Amino acid sequence: MSRLSSRHLLGLEETPQEDIMLILETSNSFREVLERQVKKVPTLRGVTVLNLFYENSTRTRISFELAEKRLSADTINFSTSTSSVKKGESLRDTVQNIEAMKLDMVVVRHGSTGAPYFLTQCMDANIINAGDGAHEHPTQALLDMYTIWKKYGKFAGLRVVLVGDVKHSRVIRSNIWGLKAVGASVALCGPSTLLPVEVEKFGCDVYHNIDEALDGADVVNVMRIQLERQEGGMFPSQREYTNLFGITKERLKLLNKNYTIMHPGPMNRGVEITSEVADGKNSVILDQVTNGQAVRMAVLYLLSGKKEEGDA
Ligand code: CP
Repeated sequence: MSRLSSRHLLGLEETPQEDIMLILETSNSFREVLERQVKKVPTLRGVTVLNLFYENSTRTRISFELAEKRLSADTINFSTSTSSVKKGESLRDTVQNIEAMKLDMVVVRHGSTGAPYFLTQCMDANIINAGDGAHEHPTQALLDMYTIWKKYGKFAGLRVVLVGDVKHSRVIRSNIWGLKAVGASVALCGPSTLLPVEVEKFGCDVYHNIDEALDGADVVNVMRIQLERQEGGMFPSQREYTNLFGITKERLKLLNKNYTIMHPGPMNRGVEITSEVADGKNSVILDQVTNGQAVRMAVLYLLSGKKEEGDA
C-alpha cells in the first residue's frame, strides 16, 4: 500500500495538504543521505523504474535517475529518438510492451496534457508525472516548496511571486496548487498575453506590473520565457520583456530583507533574470536542483509502498 492517498502522482491540484507535507518531511531524511560519503540506501531494492521521456530534459531526467539509483532501484531509460516510436509505435503499445518485461513504476514526461493519466488507465505501474504539456510538473513544485520550507520553516505568512508565462507554464500551475494548499500567499505576474483567460480562477493575486508584484515579497520564482513560443508574438521583443518583467538587481530592493530568488531552469540569462541575480547571494537555484533529488527519492519511496529497513 502507498503511504500517500493515491498510488500515482499526476499533479498537485488533486494532492491533499497532508500528502504534500508527508513528502516534504520524508525528503528531509533523504536529503541527509545525500550528505553521506556513500549516497545509497537499499530502500527500493528489487523495484524496477522506467524513465519514459518523450520531451527533452536535463534536470528532471538525471535527478530521477540518480534518485532511483541512490534508492537501489533498477532503472530503465527510454528516449523517443532511439526507440520504435520513430517507427510509429503508439504510447499505449510502447508502455504495455515495456511493462510485459516486469516493471513497477513509470516516470513520464510528455508534450500532451493528460499523458500520465492515460498511463494509469493502461498499466498497473505507479505513475509519476515529470511534466505533461502545459498541465503540471508536480515534482518541480514539490522541490521548490521543499527549498522554501527548509529556509523559512513555514509557508503561512510568506508571499511568493511566480513571474512569467502563466498561460503555458506547468511549473507555475503546480506551484499554485501546492503553495495554496499549504497556506502561502501566491501572486502571479506576467504580460497580459501570457496570462490565461479567467486567471482569477486560480485564486491568486494577479499583477501586470512587476514592481507592484515584488513589493514586500519573500520569494520570487522566475520562470523561463519559452522563446520557442515567440513565433506567436506573445510579447514584442526579448528586450521589452526584460525591461518590463526581468528580475534585475535594482528590482531586488523592492523585496523583503530575507528574500529568495528561484528558477526551475533552464534559464535565459539576460532575458527573464540577470546573471547578477541568478548568481547572487540570495539565489537558491542550485539548491533547488540538489533538493530535487531528495524530493524525488521521497516520492518514489512513498508511492512504492515499500517499508524502510527497520520499519515495523
Ligand atoms: N526544471 C526542469 O523541468 O528542467 P528540465 O526540463 O531540464 O528537466
